[in-house]
Amino acid sequence: MASITVRRLDDNLKAQLRLRAARHGRSVEDEVRTILREAANSSTSARMRGEVGEPKADSRASSTRDGEPGNGQFAQAPHPNPLPARAERERKITLIIGGGIAAYKALDLIRRLKERDAHVRCVLTRAAQQFVTPLSASALAHERVYTDLFDPQSEFDAGHIRLARDCDMIVVAPATADLMAKMAHGHADDLATAILLATNRPVLLAPAMNPLMWNNPATRRNLARLKSDGILVIGPNAGEMAEANEAGIGRMAEPIEIADAAMQVLRPAPTGPLAGKRILITAGPTHEPIDPVRYIANRSSGKQGFAIAASAAAAGADVTLISGPVGLSDPPGVRVIRVEVARDMLKQVEDALPADIAIFAAAVADWRVAREGDQKIKKTSSGLPPLQLVENPDILATISKLKQKRPPLVIGFAAETEHLIDNAMSKLLRKGCDWIVANDVSPSGGVMGGDRNTVHLLMKGKSGGETQIESWPVMPKDGVASALVDRIARNISGAETA
Ligand SMILES: Cc1cc2nc3c(=O)[nH]c(=O)nc-3n(C[C@H](O)[C@H](O)[C@H](O)COP(=O)(O)O)c2cc1C
Repeated sequence: MASITVRRLDDNLKAQLRLRAARHGRSVEDEVRTILREAANSSTSARMRGEVGEPKADSRASSTRDGEPGNGQFAQAPHPNPLPARAERERKITLIIGGGIAAYKALDLIRRLKERDAHVRCVLTRAAQQFVTPLSASALAHERVYTDLFDPQSEFDAGHIRLARDCDMIVVAPATADLMAKMAHGHADDLATAILLATNRPVLLAPAMNPLMWNNPATRRNLARLKSDGILVIGPNAGEMAEANEAGIGRMAEPIEIADAAMQVLRPAPTGPLAGKRILITAGPTHEPIDPVRYIANRSSGKQGFAIAASAAAAGADVTLISGPVGLSDPPGVRVIRVEVARDMLKQVEDALPADIAIFAAAVADWRVAREGDQKIKKTSSGLPPLQLVENPDILATISKLKQKRPPLVIGFAAETEHLIDNAMSKLLRKGCDWIVANDVSPSGGVMGGDRNTVHLLMKGKSGGETQIESWPVMPKDGVASALVDRIARNISGAETA
């Protein structure tokens, strides 16, 4: 059965149901489901035991009823909990589909959310129904779809309040310019906007509109207002528009991106030794173009930086990983920004500040060509092409020497092929960072691109104290990553002095 509609209940019974639902933090509809489930279970087990008579109340329900402080205080609604306590696999999402071309992608989003074990209830605006049918949404969600503020089918309680609160979060996709404007101004003249005004759950918007609408000062103002109200926003992405010959920023984020962002919002508060810490990590090489088809690069695979990002996220940190071109997939729970050249990497690093810890594991190209060819440089009989090199920005030194926003712990990597410790020590002093992870990248060691690493950790002594050097045994790169994360956790907890 996809939904429940119970009509012609007497007022007293309705009031009792509401009271019971409020005590258990459920919607009235869910309360009825629970009562029916309990009744069915008890009569099935009674039949199996050969018992007759009244079914017993389930122990969970009765202990909640007796023990809850809110007993008898229905007037205290709205629900005080930011997220209702539910089993991990029962996350409920109210998906509001707005009236834009991208509404068809919202159908795929329903599937992506359900793949992630979410229970999806769809609300379609009047305009959305011009683009997709309630029938399609309901078939994919396995639930009835909601379209009207004044819905004669919802008898138990005000439908918009239930849809606003009986969920763990609300996703609006596509979020039209119109919906954003109404939200920013607190309108509630249809079901979607009434839900959005009545909710105390996290709201994630996936805007989608023509680039001119997106860049219109009115939309910019509304966006800024919504963000400052705590509304979360994903996208829009750049790309081609549905309108012929139009491109720019305005495409709705892909359903998978939206579903992942929603899951991120629903993830329980992180625990672990780095919970609450923002960590910024760079990884991989940079590719410095010579012309449209050639570039200067190095053999860095990004594996060590990615492993550190994964370890830091597993330790509860909020991790941003800025990576050069590598063939690795995003570590779970990590915000990944992909760049190509050193200058972009520095820009992204600066934009990601402030951070508590910055770890610069990327093998940033030291040089780039002074003038990148607009066209492929041709082989000629007149000799070799003159390639003049200029220095790239030094990301580690730049961030280590910041006057403002310098992360309290800055860690660099030194990839050396000779005089490892000496070179790492002088790098530590020259760059102004706090720690250096030195690794021998001589071709014979197979570190570049390989899965194992041998490192020495140089930690500058506090207030001019001696630099400590630790030499770690050869380990897989994820072993090095977790040892480093462990060392960082001990350092910031004050358990060690280095
Ligand atoms: C063919 C067509 C495509 C549209 N696409 C979009 C769109 O992608 N984004 C948007 O913000 N509005 C778009 N609109 C305008 C919205 O449909 C219109 O603003 C509507 O009032 C939005 O209603 P809603 O916000 O209640 O869903 C489109 C309109 C038409 C006729």
